[in-house]
Amino acid sequence: MSTSAQLRSALVSALAEDGALTDPDWLRAAETVPRELFTGSYFEQVPGSVPTRYRPVRQGGEGWLQGIYTDRTLITQLDGRIRPDDVTGSTVEGSPSSSSTLPSLVLRMWQQLEVEQGQRVLEIGTGTGYSTTLGAHRLGDGNLTSVEYDPVVGEAAASAITSAGYTPRLIVGDGLRGDPEGGAYGRLIATCAVRYIPLPWLHQVKPGGKILVTLSGWSYASGLALLTVTGPGTATGRFLPGHTSFMIARPHDRPPRPVLALLPGEERTSLIDPAIIDTWSGSWVAQLAAPSAERMGAGSQQILWDVSTGSQARTAAGPDGGWTVVQRGPVRLWDRVEEAVERWRAAGEPHQKGFGITVSAAGQRVWIGAEDGPGWELPV
Ligand SMILES: C[S@@+](CC[C@H](N)C(=O)[O-])C[C@H]1O[C@@H](n2cnc3c(N)ncnc32)[C@H](O)[C@@H]1O
Repeated sequence: MSTSAQLRSALVSALAEDGALTDPDWLRAAETVPRELFTGSYFEQVPGSVPTRYRPVRQGGEGWLQGIYTDRTLITQLDGRIRPDDVTGSTVEGSPSSSSTLPSLVLRMWQQLEVEQGQRVLEIGTGTGYSTTLGAHRLGDGNLTSVEYDPVVGEAAASAITSAGYTPRLIVGDGLRGDPEGGAYGRLIATCAVRYIPLPWLHQVKPGGKILVTLSGWSYASGLALLTVTGPGTATGRFLPGHTSFMIARPHDRPPRPVLALLPGEERTSLIDPAIIDTWSGSWVAQLAAPSAERMGAGSQQILWDVSTGSQARTAAGPDGGWTVVQRGPVRLWDRVEEAVERWRAAGEPHQKGFGITVSAAGQRVWIGAEDGPGWELPV
């Protein structure tokens, strides 16, 4: 039976061999900090369950430690309240609301943040406290402040971080408001996603400082962006390679909606194959075009439901080999998606890494290629 130290060392070696993690200081941090101190029991997805169900993996039980030292995200809370140890049955349904992010992503993001020695860092989304502790180990307790929205999660993280022997500054509150005491940070890293860059961040990170955050939305598409703050309230940056996604920050989550009812509307031929918005970057473009819409469905059968106006669009394979779309409501969602997909195609269908973002008093714009390229305003 392997010990925690052996499993940890094997995981770190595998991450280093992979080539994506090159900074020896961050690898050393991962070799030092035992992840099991932060997760306790966690949830495992029940394969093939629809809607998704989760099985608790109990602390100290069979496979528990091995699971912790695989490179995967461990879900530690569902629906903002259910912890694995609360579950009395064998499985439970719910939506993940807190987790320990997979180690390769945590370490990659710490590397991508390009922190310089002595810089103060604000982390948003303490979660289990694992990424916070890696940061505290590498940067020094005094340089790291971390904010967690959920008081129960924040309390558990605080006790885990203390038991690991670290003392970063921990805050329970809404990290989208930044540090309640204000601050002049050199870096900000978010391990929850946002629909737009919160303005307080742009005043608490010093000009020249950097913000690393995943932009996401109500259609679940994501892109990881590294922005440089150019002045108070302004920033610009680019999206990074890879396929990064995070749970959305609680205040940016979509409002509750009624049970889906597909209603009649105007039907026409779709100008694009709807399956394009099922791809990683196609879904991103569709979300930029219709930022208040939730996306459901798959392949040629896409459903968009605009949360703010109730507008709907639904597509289907046509009888003659093409596709049809039915739209209703004040926002013609599919018209917007088609137009956006055509602009994206004209630009060569880039992955998110071909996109950038500019934030100013005038708004927040995501663009392709260069600042004056085709772009879309974020819903600030
Ligand atoms: C993916 S988990 C964080 C993973 C964590 N960094 C780790 O290594 O364990 C995302 C966390 O962000 C928290 N969160 C969501 N909205 C937030 C907000 N507005 N401010 C601060 N934390 C938030 C969630 O409660 C959740 O614990």
